[in-house]
Amino acid sequence: MDHTEVLKPQTLDELIQILHQIFSSDKVNVEEVQNIVESYESNPLEWMKYAKLDPYRYTRNLVDEGNGKFNLMILCWGEGHGSSIHDHTNSHCFLKILQGNLKETMYEWPQKKTNGAMIKKSEGVLKLNQCAYINDSIGLHRVENPSHTEPAVSLHLYSPPFDHCQTFDQRTGHKNTVKMTFWSKYGEKTPVATIQSKENN
Ligand SMILES: [Fe+2]
Repeated sequence: MDHTEVLKPQTLDELIQILHQIFSSDKVNVEEVQNIVESYESNPLEWMKYAKLDPYRYTRNLVDEGNGKFNLMILCWGEGHGSSIHDHTNSHCFLKILQGNLKETMYEWPQKKTNGAMIKKSEGVLKLNQCAYINDSIGLHRVENPSHTEPAVSLHLYSPPFDHCQTFDQRTGHKNTVKMTFWSKYGEKTPVATIQSKENN
């Protein structure tokens, strides 16, 4: 079936199947992907096994590796949890709300003329089932769960997949490269990396 313009995935598994078809071609139609991801109606029973909450910071939970063309993950945001300002390593980023709301604040890339201070472009609240899109040419963003009473859950698709990005200090524009890890993969908690003991050196 290739009537993607009328496809409405009935389940998360069906959405994943459709995404595999779409991304098997090398050209990504952003609007098409956004529409399909948005048309999936979040059903917590389908994604709860990936939704692992941590009390201290948001978690990244791998759902699918998309034949290497993309990856799909579920992020769980406790009350007040947020990301730093970050880029997307030249990938496409789709972000859909599965539960609660997320506030997205967009920034320009740091510029010399402002002495590094980051310029805010816009902010908005993403609502249930909405799907936002960003890439590096659009700018940078910060994502936060604005609620102090409810966690939020979001579905993220990155194409191509990446495991590091840059984070930016809002006041100075100073950037850091950070490696990203998964809290869980396919519903199973990933082992915590062992911290090398200084006593051995
Ligand atoms: Fe992002």
